[in-house]
Amino acid sequence: MPEGACQLFLLLLLGLGLGSQEALPPPCESQIYCHGELLHQVQMAKLYQDDKQFVDMPLSSAPDQVLQHFRTLASTHNHSVPRPQLQAFLQEHFQATGQELQPWVPEDWKDSPRFLEKIADSKLRSWARQLHQLWKKLGKKVRPEVLRQPERFSLIYSQHPFIVPGGRFREFYYWDSYWVMEGLLLSEMEGTVRGMLQNFLDLVQTYGHVPNGARVYYLQRSQPPLLTLMMARYVAHTNDTAFLRDNIGTLALELDFWAEKRNVSVSFGGKSYILSRYHVPYGGPRPESYSKDAELAGVVPEGAREALWAELKAGAESGWDFSSRWLIGSQDPSSLSSIRTSKLVPVDLNAFLCQAEGLMSSFHASLGNEAEATKYRNLRARRLAALEAVLWDQEKGAWFDYDLEHGKKNHEFYPSNLAPLWAGCFSDPSMADQALQYLEDSQVLTYQHGVPTSLRKSGQQWDYPNAWAPLQDLVIRGLARSPSPRTQEVAFQLAQNWIQTNFRVYSQTSAMYEKYDISSGGQPGGGGEYEVQEGFGWTNGMALMLLDHYGDRLSSAAQAAFLEPLCLAAALLLGLLLR
Ligand SMILES: *[C@@H]1O[C@H](CO)[C@@H](O)[C@H](O)[C@H]1NC(C)=O
Ligand SMILES: *[C@@H]1O[C@H](CO)[C@@H](O)[C@H](O)[C@H]1NC(C)=O
Ligand SMILES: *[C@@H]1O[C@H](CO)[C@@H](O)[C@H](O)[C@H]1NC(C)=O
Repeated sequence: MPEGACQLFLLLLLGLGLGSQEALPPPCESQIYCHGELLHQVQMAKLYQDDKQFVDMPLSSAPDQVLQHFRTLASTHNHSVPRPQLQAFLQEHFQATGQELQPWVPEDWKDSPRFLEKIADSKLRSWARQLHQLWKKLGKKVRPEVLRQPERFSLIYSQHPFIVPGGRFREFYYWDSYWVMEGLLLSEMEGTVRGMLQNFLDLVQTYGHVPNGARVYYLQRSQPPLLTLMMARYVAHTNDTAFLRDNIGTLALELDFWAEKRNVSVSFGGKSYILSRYHVPYGGPRPESYSKDAELAGVVPEGAREALWAELKAGAESGWDFSSRWLIGSQDPSSLSSIRTSKLVPVDLNAFLCQAEGLMSSFHASLGNEAEATKYRNLRARRLAALEAVLWDQEKGAWFDYDLEHGKKNHEFYPSNLAPLWAGCFSDPSMADQALQYLEDSQVLTYQHGVPTSLRKSGQQWDYPNAWAPLQDLVIRGLARSPSPRTQEVAFQLAQNWIQTNFRVYSQTSAMYEKYDISSGGQPGGGGEYEVQEGFGWTNGMALMLLDHYGDRLSSAAQAAFLEPLCLAAALLLGLLLR
């Protein structure tokens, strides 16, 4: 064999070795942060309001020592340690949350990014300036101790600083970061975006996928796959094709994870299709919501518990944790215990992957790699055909999640039903106008303060009456793709509604929230597993996107803007008549 060929051969072998599953670390072995008696006893004692608090606390000494001390304590108390002793134990062996992160003011933050000038309404412009300021509050950097002694932290070390959502979400999250990055790019902070991208790429290199968030207890699951899109947006803003060229193999690894671990075969109309689903084949309660998951499992037969926990994790992987969307067709649709996330083929997931496959094809084409460009073009075409065969409903004019167990579509309203429009994964331009008709038929456009997450009031946070920034985006930019001026006008009106909800709540509370309750005139949202959080990464990013795109038309007070000229005219007229 000639020398070059031998090198190539060895490299190939090395590549195969690195690509195989054995090379990846198992997802979360920690006997403290992921499972085990210590976790169980502490979480079931409910020492804190939020279970996430304990699993975010750094250790004061090595995990072996802490576990050794705990074993002694547990056996002293016959494996049922009383609260005061548990509290004393935590006091001695753990540190307060947040020690592993330090505040970080992005170096590329600047006073006056250009997009601000495009905002005509002066109140909205000054608000946008304050949102732009918030990046400095949400910037975080991992302390070097985490690199030196990773086993003492649940936080996963990241080389580059990042922007977090805020509140209980102290670390970065996968799909949140897409909307954060859109906002950062408008704020002209390409360096911060590049660092955040590099962090995600590093996670893929280490774990084979992007975890839900940067904590070891999130390693078993991912979140909606938007990494390829993040890269596309970064490259569109910077033309940094060298970065793309260096990392395109890692983007491919991430898509392989979804293709190999989240694929599902669907028989429909006598044909078989391959689509994707959220699926986390690991049991045990989620460490950060441990007591809730453990108690929920108490209501199902013992043999069904692991399956329930896996479905809860799949629900968390979907980003919609939790929603009636994953409870459809169950015996008890009001209880989370009937969750069956992995039995649904979600519209949004397949739209995201279809878009990613299309982007990969263009990336390869731009780098001159025709063979790979063709491979991804075919993958996209295959998925698009499956999306339209299985999920599109011609009569209703939208896409719907497909229920594998019952062999039928779920016809409930969710903004995700329009995700293919947003992702540009549809074959017929008239589908956007059909989707508008669908929204009108569903009476969704009658809500003044934002597009609701569903029309079901389940008490879960991804349902009525909550409205979320990323879901506004799916609908608004989905409709805006239509060539029809009427459909585009509806998109603008929805943007106007959402901006006013965000702006009014900000005026009253000086804060941005992760979600809004549109039934109470647009207040901070509620429901679900924890208190509503302030911050807030993706809400800020989405607001900046709308302020940028519609800045010449958006108004801080639409009704007033509409009434003012009329009122003025009426007053003048009255004045004239009364003279
Ligand atoms: C220890 O706990 C077990 C089970 O909870 C119980 O059966 C046993 O009697 C306890 N032993 C003592 C010494 O309290
Ligand atoms: C990127 O390159 C394109 C085409 O070469 C050019 O039109 C565009 O202005 C460039 N953008 C940036 C941000 O440099
Ligand atoms: C998913 O892909 C993997 C790897 O290609 C394959 O082994 C598995 O059979 C596929 N599963 C389904 C349901 O298609």
